[in-house]
Amino acid sequence: MERKSLTAAVSSERIQQDMATLACIGADGQGGVTRLAYSPEHWKARAYIRDRMESAGLQVREDAAGNVMGRWPVGLTGPALAMGSHLDSVPHGGRFDGPVGVVCALEAVRAIQESGFRPPSPLEVIVFAEEEGARLNHPLFGSKAMAGILDPRLLEQMKDRDGVPLARVLEGVGLSQERLSEARRQREEFLAYLEVHIEQGSVLEERNVQIGVVTGIVGITFMEMVITGRADHAGPNPMERRKDALLGAGRIITEIPVLVAQTGSAAARGTVGAIHAHPNTINVVPGRVTLGVDVRHKEKEEIRKLARLIDLKAGDICQKSGLEFLSRVLTEIEPVAMANNIVQAIGETCEEMDITCMQMLSGAGHDTTSMSTLAPVGMIFVPSVEGLSHCPEEFTPLEDIVCGARVLAGTAAGLINNFT
Ligand code: GLV
Ligand code: MN
Ligand code: MN
Repeated sequence: MERKSLTAAVSSERIQQDMATLACIGADGQGGVTRLAYSPEHWKARAYIRDRMESAGLQVREDAAGNVMGRWPVGLTGPALAMGSHLDSVPHGGRFDGPVGVVCALEAVRAIQESGFRPPSPLEVIVFAEEEGARLNHPLFGSKAMAGILDPRLLEQMKDRDGVPLARVLEGVGLSQERLSEARRQREEFLAYLEVHIEQGSVLEERNVQIGVVTGIVGITFMEMVITGRADHAGPNPMERRKDALLGAGRIITEIPVLVAQTGSAAARGTVGAIHAHPNTINVVPGRVTLGVDVRHKEKEEIRKLARLIDLKAGDICQKSGLEFLSRVLTEIEPVAMANNIVQAIGETCEEMDITCMQMLSGAGHDTTSMSTLAPVGMIFVPSVEGLSHCPEEFTPLEDIVCGARVLAGTAAGLINNFT
């Protein structure tokens, strides 16, 4: 198999068409998309890709978590080399986070088909559901279901961002919570998993490098904090008599960057990305505030330490302000390392294709983390303009996506030959 014929078979027209079609589904009118998991928009995007998979001759099936899987060649059994990403987005997210990986995976299969290379093991394209966690506060939901690592106790209490129980969310798209465990797959079913993704940072652009070869993915903890004071009239009551929950929340929010800086680690992150004030009315002192806190690091222990520091500090602030404080961990995702042989294979493919590359760490979470419990994994990053992501301004030029698809196709074909 010649990697040069694969490079030529990757079609920028097909990639452009798929990316443009997906960008219209859930378009928010500002250049971004809103495709919350299990929403009609998410389901429409899945249906489009399902259709494209079928047109390319893949055998398509769906699982109990809403993941879509397409296999080729049809009828070839044995462990598969899987590739994929997600189509759900954060609210007002970008057009590239997720779709780039799905479209590159599909294009890699189409290019391999056209190159005439007949893989000795099946290729599989996977579209994961609820990667973002923007709906259920539980990132990697679909890929965790596939890996069999969803915590059943958490499932019982899980609600979406509007308070709708998980069972109702799933029923909305014809799925059932009782059957979620059927999505589980086994290690024997996979040779490897590869994912192309936008970098979501500015390292590749700043260094003018075409491809990032990911060596590891950070760990993520999501926490929920509930601060309770007392709702009250905004006028008659003197300032010192109030129990303003939002004031306490504000103090917590401004303290988090200080705690992150005190770790002295460039890899530490702490973000309050969600805030709900109750009753959220201009002339009422806020009686209750819920904060969604995101903590990240490349070392498991460092995340634990930082999350604990933030929790203690928040409790302390509330105590001193006469506010009640409750917190709980919503999700913990551990950092993972990519498989050495795959990191090496991606680097060699780039070299053979005269594509510049560098090794890097992923600061964002990816389905690859869940898949690492089922198979050796690797990730290929393409540049993000100005490093922007999770916003409508997110952008990656077509030629960079095409480059990612070429590296994916070349790496997949090389690996599949070595595996057999
Ligand atoms: C997913 O994009 C995440 O890193 O939160
Ligand atoms: Mn993503
Ligand atoms: Mn994302």
